[in-house]
Amino acid sequence: MTQHSSLSASDDGATRAAIYRASLLYFIGDPALDPAALQWHEDGALHVRDGRIVDVGSASEVLARVTSDGDGGVSAVAAAPAIHDWRGRIVMPGFIDTHLHFPQTEMIGSPAPGLLPWLEHYTFPTERAFEDSAHAQTIADVFIDELLRNGTTTAMVYCSVHPQSVDALFEVCAARDLRMIAGKVMMDRHCPPWLSDTAERGAQESEALIARWHNKQRLAYAITPRFAPTSTSAQLAVAGALAKQYPDTYIQSHVAENRDEVAWVKELFPTARSYLNVYDQVGLLRERAMYGHCIYLDDDDRARMAETGAAAAVCPTSNLFLGSGLFDFEKAQRSGMPITLATDVGGGTSFSMLATMNEAYKVARMGGYYLDATRMFYLSTLGAARALHLEGQVGSLAVGNEADFIVVDRHATPLLSRRTDRCTSVDETLFALAMLGDDRAIAATFSHGRCVHRRD
Ligand code: GUN
Ligand code: ZN
Repeated sequence: MTQHSSLSASDDGATRAAIYRASLLYFIGDPALDPAALQWHEDGALHVRDGRIVDVGSASEVLARVTSDGDGGVSAVAAAPAIHDWRGRIVMPGFIDTHLHFPQTEMIGSPAPGLLPWLEHYTFPTERAFEDSAHAQTIADVFIDELLRNGTTTAMVYCSVHPQSVDALFEVCAARDLRMIAGKVMMDRHCPPWLSDTAERGAQESEALIARWHNKQRLAYAITPRFAPTSTSAQLAVAGALAKQYPDTYIQSHVAENRDEVAWVKELFPTARSYLNVYDQVGLLRERAMYGHCIYLDDDDRARMAETGAAAAVCPTSNLFLGSGLFDFEKAQRSGMPITLATDVGGGTSFSMLATMNEAYKVARMGGYYLDATRMFYLSTLGAARALHLEGQVGSLAVGNEADFIVVDRHATPLLSRRTDRCTSVDETLFALAMLGDDRAIAATFSHGRCVHRRD
């Protein structure tokens, strides 16, 4: 066995076996229901082969199993796994960001007095440029680099209304062998004419993209009506029909984000019981559906999400930045509806899921709710994987999962180092990472066993 201490493990490729020795953190259940769901190995080891996790546990156990097997179960002639000694660092599953917009990468942090003027003045003009495939390809690369730098290995992504923007993003993801979900925005009213599709064209283009990309490598398609105000009833109906015809595709949209938006939906759909009910009426509430924001839901809406398995993407940096409102963690928790955390870039102000946890914690506090760090890390890994029906594939370091993981450096900044040196529990260390951490704390990101980002 060869020992390496550097993070430059990209030479391993996805086929060679490797063992990463570090502190390990992952979940095997929801820590709110079972305190034993958090798995922590202070001196742990992760054994990866062919892009998958083949063994995990304390370093002494995992290394002993390799020695006794010769190679951990590979044939006797296979090369012994290289051992990477990363003691002092934390290896955990890559983050899962369940809601963000790749065409908005360059307009992140654009000021506006609320959601609707922000869409009109910044978002729609910015998204127009994605008609040009070359521009879409350039930004797709920048966007994916930014996700990986922040330790996000899976995301649920809105493209623009142009199918070529979806091709651009998926081509980058396919070339880098990432697990990603994305879809073309459908919108056929209340937007500039140069961004509008029609009910029929939106459906045809979405169906062609499903045929081209859904379940190719590790990619999946999301049917993406932008939000109820920019789709006619006819378009929402065809989106619902597609969702029924392709039951293993995803659905993504926005709901109940902003008071003006909610009032507008009430005018546009006067017979609907609520904003969420507009989607429910056309079959857009089901498992694998992800709704951004969910701030102004009522108890019946929450019960409906719990019943159908549709999940909320809670976007605290965006909701604070645009002044949209405060997500009610207490009511969501009581209802049993699935929740996840998301950046909502470019309404959100950071690609970092650590920065997102930071704001989520404060939003919860403002509502009198205590969102502990352990739960925030669960929601950003296994919790999101469960909401997306990806448990067993990503979101955990359990054996059999794809090797999508990150290496976290709690000494990345002088202050983070001093703060975490004083921590006396795993939860306290995770809390410090959420409050003080960002992309600087992500020392490396691995996807399907390959190093796809390394911070020098
Ligand atoms: N509602 C409809 N479109 C958008 C968008 O692009 N961002 C946000 N935050 N909300 C939306
Ligand atoms: Zn959004």
